[in-house]
Amino acid sequence: MLAGKSIVLCVTGGIAAYKAVELCRLFVKAGAEVRVIMTSAAKEFISPLTFVTVSGNPVYSELYAAVERYDVAHVGLAAEADLFVIAPATANCIGKIASGIADDLLTTAVMAAASTVLLAPAMNVRMYENPITQSNIKKLTVLGYQIVEPEEGELACGDIGRGRMADPETIFRVSASLLARDKCWQGRRIIVTAGPTREALDPVRYISNHSSGKMGYAIARAAAIGGAEVVLVSGPTNLAPPVGVRMAQVVSAQEMREAVMSYFPQSDVVIKAAAVADYRPSTASGQKIKKGGDMTLTLVRNPDILAELGELKEGRYLVGFAAETEDMCANAHDKLRRKNLDMIVANDLTEPGAGFDVDTNVVRFIFNDGTERQLPKMSKTEVAEEILKEIYARYRYKKTRKSD
Ligand code: CTP
Repeated sequence: MLAGKSIVLCVTGGIAAYKAVELCRLFVKAGAEVRVIMTSAAKEFISPLTFVTVSGNPVYSELYAAVERYDVAHVGLAAEADLFVIAPATANCIGKIASGIADDLLTTAVMAAASTVLLAPAMNVRMYENPITQSNIKKLTVLGYQIVEPEEGELACGDIGRGRMADPETIFRVSASLLARDKCWQGRRIIVTAGPTREALDPVRYISNHSSGKMGYAIARAAAIGGAEVVLVSGPTNLAPPVGVRMAQVVSAQEMREAVMSYFPQSDVVIKAAAVADYRPSTASGQKIKKGGDMTLTLVRNPDILAELGELKEGRYLVGFAAETEDMCANAHDKLRRKNLDMIVANDLTEPGAGFDVDTNVVRFIFNDGTERQLPKMSKTEVAEEILKEIYARYRYKKTRKSD
């Protein structure tokens, strides 16, 4: 699967260094050419000879040592690599890369890297949760570095929490998908909306819903990996912006409408995964409302953004979502027709593993030609990939028909 790919595996000094051996073996077994860089701290945990044996290549460590194959090791390694994987990535290493410090072979090579860099953080839970580490990770993510989140569990130091390096198999799978990124969406502009909207009652209170934004963020991430130029119009969520995606942060439905409308003229595809509040308070008080007796709220309708796009869509491919608790198919068909959509992704919120704030979803695709496709329960990342595959096939067909 990875035949002919050149991977630079960077190993830093953490107890998880031993797991990098298994990762190295998985890469080699899949046909990749692996070159290992170790920091001097990493060599305290594991012998370079282990990596020499598993990778079949010399191990690189010294910035100034004469290396038989590369005149300038860090530049040679950086230029040749299809992918850099840093596993484990310690807090120190993450901090150095985020700050532009290049004081050893590893950090120098990473700084010179032209390829994607994937980091697998591994450290004590408090080090991981430290706002400095979190802000470094966020900075790297925004700059396009890829992160495989550590897992929760018992740590080598005896603490329990998030900090354990992701499984070698998981890192391997993420690496493989990064290397296999199909750029079929290159040159296309996709708008994705995600998350809830908040409709203010006063400066401290609002009406909203349980949407976590996970489905929309997964779609935006998958579209960017596919090479699309993606704008993610997002209501308030706790999620990190996906790599390579332009963020438009909004709060209310009206703000979401404005943002979507401003990007719409240049777009090819719009995927509306956001859970837009259908109503807002008729007035938002400028001051905090003080309690008194019972209170009656008057709500007014928000604009239906998707329905508006349906009227303006021309050649664009328009995808909506329908989250239902009853009569899923009938309601979804009705929304598809009413809003002039090409496709609707319907889910039944009463089904286990579907809906808000979970990592899985159970969805049914309904298309404007009357065809339907039921998907089994799968991760939101997988659902996102399936949605994009369907859109790609159908959008291309629509385009071809138009130019006939
Ligand atoms: N949507 C929108 N603007 C709104 C409301 C919804 O763009 N004001 C979009 C959502 O992003 C989603 C789809 O429309 O793609 C959901 O359709 P909708 O009919 O609004 O579903 P519900 O909000 O669940 O409405 P209903 O009460 O009719 O079930």
